[in-house]
Amino acid sequence: MKFLVLGAAAGGGLPQWNCGCDNCNDARAGRISASGQSSLAVSVDGHSWAILNASPDIRQQMQASPRMHPRALRDTPVGSVLLTNGDIDHIAGLLSLREQTPFQMFATGEIHKVLADNRIFDAVNREVVPRVTVALDQPFELLPGLTAKLFAVPGKVPLFMEGTEVQTDLEGEQTVGVRLSDGAKTAYYIPGCATVTDKLLDQIADADQLFFDGTLWDDNEMIRTGTGVKTGRRMGHIPISGPDGSIVRLSGLKAAKTFIHINNTNPIWQPDSLERAFVTGNGWQIAADGQETEI
Ligand code: MLT
Ligand code: MN
Ligand code: ZN
Repeated sequence: MKFLVLGAAAGGGLPQWNCGCDNCNDARAGRISASGQSSLAVSVDGHSWAILNASPDIRQQMQASPRMHPRALRDTPVGSVLLTNGDIDHIAGLLSLREQTPFQMFATGEIHKVLADNRIFDAVNREVVPRVTVALDQPFELLPGLTAKLFAVPGKVPLFMEGTEVQTDLEGEQTVGVRLSDGAKTAYYIPGCATVTDKLLDQIADADQLFFDGTLWDDNEMIRTGTGVKTGRRMGHIPISGPDGSIVRLSGLKAAKTFIHINNTNPIWQPDSLERAFVTGNGWQIAADGQETEI
């Protein structure tokens, strides 16, 4: 299996349009690499690709990656698009894929409902781009030779659909992880996860490669940096650090591990930060736009 990181950043990207934090300023000034919003491409043969989450930056992400370029007049190497939740950073890119070139669009019934309830997505013609509803825990063919399976991950409804009461560790069809298998190797993609339960640990125990939610270094990051009022857990994202954080909870996995969906406030963006050294010292990789991995 081949992976191409189209966007390593969380919603907002790096830099985010309205943010003057050190990371965003450094990205603007070219002192650290800028990064697009959350998206990962996967392939078995290097010719046909599935895109996991369609970010608002997809046009630039595809332009920057020759593997995503058309090979003929009106063509795309993208055979399918799969959505892991209905957040804007994962669905808005569909609107850029509206030009009557076929691919298959896979998601759970609940995530498809988010699209169906927002008529602007009708611009992506269902006759050309079939919307395939996938049940949880049922394997399906994402691309020829590539089997996928969706499973519930603790999370919440999309930010723009939150009511006054929000359950942040809901396990259902609104936030899912993806198991990918080419018959030889197994990978997991989980860009949003509120907490690592024992059930989730069992689910991903056979991973050779894991791409996992690296949104925040610590739960109070947005509050501490003065960029927001919510904790990470309130946003549906487990922190990297701490006794219940992802590094500790996932330390027993044999898989190669990569953080993806990294918020612009996260200190791991800084090449010389102690936090980045801690992450890499614990055997984790940190995704970067354009990075390719093969297992
Ligand atoms: C998230 O992952 O928490 C969302 O992308 C937030 C957002 O839509 O800005
Ligand atoms: Mn997000
Ligand atoms: Zn920022």
